[in-house]
Parts: sequence; C-alpha cells; structure tokens
Amino acid sequence: MRHRTSPYIAKSVAHSKQAGMMNPAPTLGSRRSTVTPAQSGLSSFAIPSRPLICAMACWASMSTGASMAVKRLSDAQLEAFDTEHVSPALWDMLVRRIDAQFPHGRLRFLDVGGGSGRFADRLLARYPHAHGVVLDNSRLLLARNKPHARKFLIEESAENIGLLDGGYDLVFFNWVLHHLVGFDYRESVENVVRTVHDAAYLLSDRGHISIFENVYDGLLVANAPSHIIFRLTSANAIAPLIHRLGANTARIGVCFQSKRAWERILHEAGMATVGFDEDEHKPVPWPWKAFLHVGNLRCGLFWGTSVLNQSLPKYRLATTLDSLERH
Ligand SMILES: C[S@@+](CC[C@H](N)C(=O)[O-])C[C@H]1O[C@@H](n2cnc3c(N)ncnc32)[C@H](O)[C@@H]1O
Repeated sequence: MRHRTSPYIAKSVAHSKQAGMMNPAPTLGSRRSTVTPAQSGLSSFAIPSRPLICAMACWASMSTGASMAVKRLSDAQLEAFDTEHVSPALWDMLVRRIDAQFPHGRLRFLDVGGGSGRFADRLLARYPHAHGVVLDNSRLLLARNKPHARKFLIEESAENIGLLDGGYDLVFFNWVLHHLVGFDYRESVENVVRTVHDAAYLLSDRGHISIFENVYDGLLVANAPSHIIFRLTSANAIAPLIHRLGANTARIGVCFQSKRAWERILHEAGMATVGFDEDEHKPVPWPWKAFLHVGNLRCGLFWGTSVLNQSLPKYRLATTLDSLERH
C-alpha cells in the first residue's frame, strides 16, 4: 500500500550528518552520536560509537584501498522489488533467532537495502521496543515507506555503510548482496565481502548480521549456476533476450551463490558462527537445469556475529581478499 505522506529521507549519510540528524561518520573520541528528530516526526535515538572499532575500520579501508563500483538498477527494474519477500516460514526462522538472542526485544537494527520498509515495519510491529534504520539507494522505494516513529530512512548505497556510526544489534541484508554487482564477477564478490566486512564494524557487542539470500546449488558443480547466471544477466548484447526470458536484472547482472560459496564469502568478510536455516526447496524448471546447471534452489537465512565481537586479534581484510584468488 502506498502512502501519500512521504517520510523524511536523509539523502545520504553525509547529508544526514550535515542536517544534524545523525552523525554517521566514525568520530574518534566522541562517546555518542545521535539521531535527532526529523521533520516527519521520526523519533530520536542514540547510537553509541566505538572509537577503537572506527579506527580499525579506517585502517582496514585504507589497507585495501577500498573503493567499490556497484552498478545501479533502473527505477523500472526496482519497481518489481516493492513486494513482500519474507515468507511465513522464513519469518518464523528469523524470529526464533532474534528471540533467542534478544529475549527482551530491545534492539536497534539497520536494514541495508530495506527498500519500501515492509520488513522494517514488520519488525517494529513485532518488537515494540525496537528502533530501526532503513538504508537504500533507491529514492523511489524509500519514498514508499510508511512513516513510523521508530523508523529512520537513509538514502545511501550499501557499499558506503562504513560511514555510519555503529551500535546496531542487528544488521540485515535481505536479498541485497546479490545486487552489489561490479565490473566483473570477481569485483562483485569483493563488493559483498567488503560490505559485510564493513557491517561487522557497525555491530554492538551483542550484535548479529542476518542475511536472507537465494541459494543456487549446481547439479554437479556447486557454484556453476552463479557464474552462468552472472554472465547471462550482465551481458549487454543479449540483455533484451535475457529480459524477455524473465530476468529483471538483465544488463546489470546478479550474483547469487551456492550455499557453500555464500558461507565462504561471509566467513571471509569476517562473519563468525554462521548459522543457516532454509525454506523448502523450490521446483527447478528443466530449462534451468539444462541451461543454468541449477540442481536446487531455495532461500536461506545466514545468521552470525563478527570475528571482531569474538576478539580474534589478527583479522585482516587484505588477507581475506587475497584468498579470493583461490576460488
Ligand atoms: C530484491 S530487493 C529486496 C528488498 C528488501 N530488502 C526485501 O527483502 O523486501 C533489493 C533491494 O536492494 C536495494 N539495493 C540494490 N542495490 C543497492 C545498493 N547498492 N545499495 C543500497 N540498496 C540497494 C534495492 O533498491 C532494493 O530495495
């Protein structure tokens, strides 16, 4: 359902900072940064900053020269995403995990690629003491958010979440990581690694990362569908054909992974204790088997914390990115 009143949207992390709504940049030495009330009546909440973690984040970005190029979907392509993606089965799996970790329901969350805010609204309804930020780079989808006193919107690209202050108990990536498509396949995987790695620095001490993703396992070679689908959807020359065959992301590309590949990527991004739940396997049409090598397909919930929260000392992103070469 669309709402006529468009909620206030901070146009970027930098803009929200300028407007005094939030101080998302890693501020060394400041104890707290605040989200102050925005025009639409959005409420304020304080996010504790973690100077040491921020210093490490700056160092990590510098050490990798991290600058990400991510392709953008058009508004026509984004239009299709204003829908409910979380099935009742997936929702139950997630709520079980959240309740186990946060039995009191007091939590601050960041929904990266949260679009029209349906998921955030559902969480805010289920957890009356929760506060949340929806971050998306689509103004079209953000503008469809229902105003909510405990919800804040930021128009920004996922690859820039490192600019935000931390203190989130949950950072969600619901079907957004496969959209962080770069120039080629390798760059796309690196974008995912870096973005999830940056999310690790945003977590509170008890913080967790929660990821819903499509999982494509190959008939014989586990991650072959990932490469085939990426090639087909990112190819310019055949984009009209691929679009007609039903791929909404034709020309831009999409980078799904097998279960093992998702786990490896998340591990390399610094996620520890990755738990996995999945919904029922979907029927695979024969052309997908024949041409895309898809053996089985389902949605998975990857859930874990960060090695930073587990105090593993010698973690270096540069090292993990080097190891991508081996894949
Ligand atoms: C498949 S939809 C999922 C929407 C929502 N998370 C859900 O589960 O219903 C992908 C979302 O990711 C957003 N998105 C894609 N690339 C992004 C990027 N680089 N930064 C931020 N958001 C992005 C899109 O605008 C869209 O809202």
